[in-house]
Amino acid sequence: MSRRPQVRDDLRELVGYHSPQVTVDVRLNTNEAPGPPPAAFGEAVAAAARDLDWHRYPDRGATELRRAIGRLYGGLGPERVFCANGSNEVLQTVLLTFAGPGRRTLTFEPTYALHAHLGRITGSEPVAVDRDPGFTIDPVAAAEAVRRVEPAITFLCSPNNPTGMVEPDETIEAVLDAVTEVGGLLVVDEAYGEFAPRSAVELLDDDRPLVVTKTYSKTWAMAAARLGYLLGPAWLVEKLELVVLPYHLDALKQAAGLAALGFVDEMNARVASIVEERGRIEAALGELGAEVWPSGANFVLFRPPTDGATVWQQLVDRSVLVRNTASWEHLDGCLRVTVGTAEENGRFLSALADILGAAAPLR
Ligand SMILES: Cc1ncc(COP(=O)(O)O)c(C=O)c1O
Repeated sequence: MSRRPQVRDDLRELVGYHSPQVTVDVRLNTNEAPGPPPAAFGEAVAAAARDLDWHRYPDRGATELRRAIGRLYGGLGPERVFCANGSNEVLQTVLLTFAGPGRRTLTFEPTYALHAHLGRITGSEPVAVDRDPGFTIDPVAAAEAVRRVEPAITFLCSPNNPTGMVEPDETIEAVLDAVTEVGGLLVVDEAYGEFAPRSAVELLDDDRPLVVTKTYSKTWAMAAARLGYLLGPAWLVEKLELVVLPYHLDALKQAAGLAALGFVDEMNARVASIVEERGRIEAALGELGAEVWPSGANFVLFRPPTDGATVWQQLVDRSVLVRNTASWEHLDGCLRVTVGTAEENGRFLSALADILGAAAPLR
């Protein structure tokens, strides 16, 4: 018998979460921003790095950063904001605090795989309910699922990864009512929220078991920094301190997060140009005969008219990488493309037209 330590029984069958990378010219597979933040942001971070008290632990409560983030949302106080190393860590912290052994989580599939995955690794029991065939969620059926499963945590992802679709207020409110009845918590993951016309932030209230999670990785073009946050009731944010590691958010990251907030106009301009390019991609994909789902995010899910997995390889052969979701459950034959620069999007669309034997879209 092996004398090596064995992983936890409940993790033995688990497959880790990976996003395969291939070396290509045009990388449109991980929903990153197409370009870096402004040069002045880099200079502000460099200045902050120079002036840091490197020999001291950081501000454990990240109060200045939390206060500044709260100001972006109509002046929420720092006690209603929680920050962590990427929104994945925010989600994990919520699960460690409010789910765990003997408790269930609920997702509406297909959705962001990490919701169920993090549920599992924190010892909770993930329960999955399917969306309707068009990837929408029926509010009545969703509320019924919540009452039946009685999850400690219910996840909604809006815009939803990988479909890009934005949940109507009606769905969020119906699920929130049911979650409140069963004494659970609703997490609305808005990693792509700024690319969408609506947000659940307006529904936040100290009396509602609702949190909204956000990230610097997409809108703020800072995936390298690993910084995300949650907005929610103060009583809930306070409880997250029970599980979070002391000083988990380093001082340089706090400074980078603060520095970024000095460039809101640039961020809005970046988001607007991504939304415009998204429209161009959606229209061109339609012209090429693909099935396209309406996106409120910085990516588009589509089903090419010929076999998705083959098209994916043919794109790679033309040095364009998109996310191969063709074999994922529910997503038969689909591919997901991140909105890149105008030039990258043009390369993607021309390559796809070439593969499909069509004329390159004119737009
Ligand atoms: C829906 C969703 N939530 C959360 C994340 C994680 O983002 P972060 O980089 O903040 O950990 C992602 C990343 O792609 C995502 O798609």
